[in-house]
Amino acid sequence: MLADRYPTALVTGASTGLGRAFVDMLLNEGVRVWGTGRDPARLPARAGFTPVALDLDADSSVEAAFQLAEGAAGGLDLVVNSAGYGLYGPFTARDFADWRRQLEAMFVRTLQLSHLALRSMGARRRGALVNISSLAVEFPLPFMSGYNAAKAGLSAFSESLMVEVAGTGVIVIDFRPGDYRTGFNQTMQATSDTLSPSAFPSAPRVQHAWARLESNLQSAPPPARAAGDLRRALRRGRSGTVRSGSFFQARLAPWLTRLAPAWLHRAVTARYFGSS
Ligand SMILES: NC(=O)c1ccc[n+]([C@@H]2O[C@H](COP(=O)([O-])OP(=O)(O)OC[C@H]3O[C@@H](n4cnc5c(N)ncnc54)[C@H](OP(=O)(O)O)[C@@H]3O)[C@@H](O)[C@H]2O)c1
Repeated sequence: MLADRYPTALVTGASTGLGRAFVDMLLNEGVRVWGTGRDPARLPARAGFTPVALDLDADSSVEAAFQLAEGAAGGLDLVVNSAGYGLYGPFTARDFADWRRQLEAMFVRTLQLSHLALRSMGARRRGALVNISSLAVEFPLPFMSGYNAAKAGLSAFSESLMVEVAGTGVIVIDFRPGDYRTGFNQTMQATSDTLSPSAFPSAPRVQHAWARLESNLQSAPPPARAAGDLRRALRRGRSGTVRSGSFFQARLAPWLTRLAPAWLHRAVTARYFGSS
């Protein structure tokens, strides 16, 4: 059982989607879990689970959520940074304030939580930090530039940490999901005002790419599969990068991409999303 190695865990973005599936998996493994959402009332009431309020738009909320969970747990053995959201649209069609807010939430404050977690784990010489990045790091999605930048930064950050923590008893996992069938796109659509054809000249391309994203997500595997991949990675007990998703996205495409020149990769991506 994972609880033998990680008796306590904090999972951000636990109200829905992947975060919720991670919580289910950890509870089944006997781990006591503190899980976050902006509205704790949306979090599940379950034995072994404690809801915590966390809003990634505020430094103070990150600090408060961590201290609350860390204090109650008597030291967190596992921290999973899963909270995040997409923002859709051409880079210039949105106010820069929107992109800045996304980067601060998904990159800067995720690093802030990692800093708090690793200081504590380092002092105790045990623990695991899991950062939920994305295969978008390897296969950038058009019209999601801020999201891709945040995830690429997060993966680079995790890679650096893996070297830093070697031999300390702490591990770092860069977990890169492909498409999973969650409410991610619905939330993204609700925050996107750029999908109307009249909003900007490139609207048909933007809509075509959106249709691709949406059909990919609809036909994607359920979040429980990602939770299974995370369980296996945690059982291995080693730092590393984990690609999770369909056979094509998580296995075949990364392998093919390593063989192909960058210009070809870019041309295929542009054609796939209707940008050429
Ligand atoms: N689904 C995919 O195909 C996919 C692929 C690659 C990577 N990912 C990554 O996986 C993670 C989970 O995504 P998901 O697919 O599970 O999406 P989701 O179902 O929309 O869940 C997102 C979670 O993040 C929380 N959240 C969103 N914005 C937040 C904010 N500003 N402050 C605090 N919490 C916030 C939400 O909580 P509340 O709304 O309750 O506050 C929710 O629990 C994200 O980091 C996403 O980028 C997903």
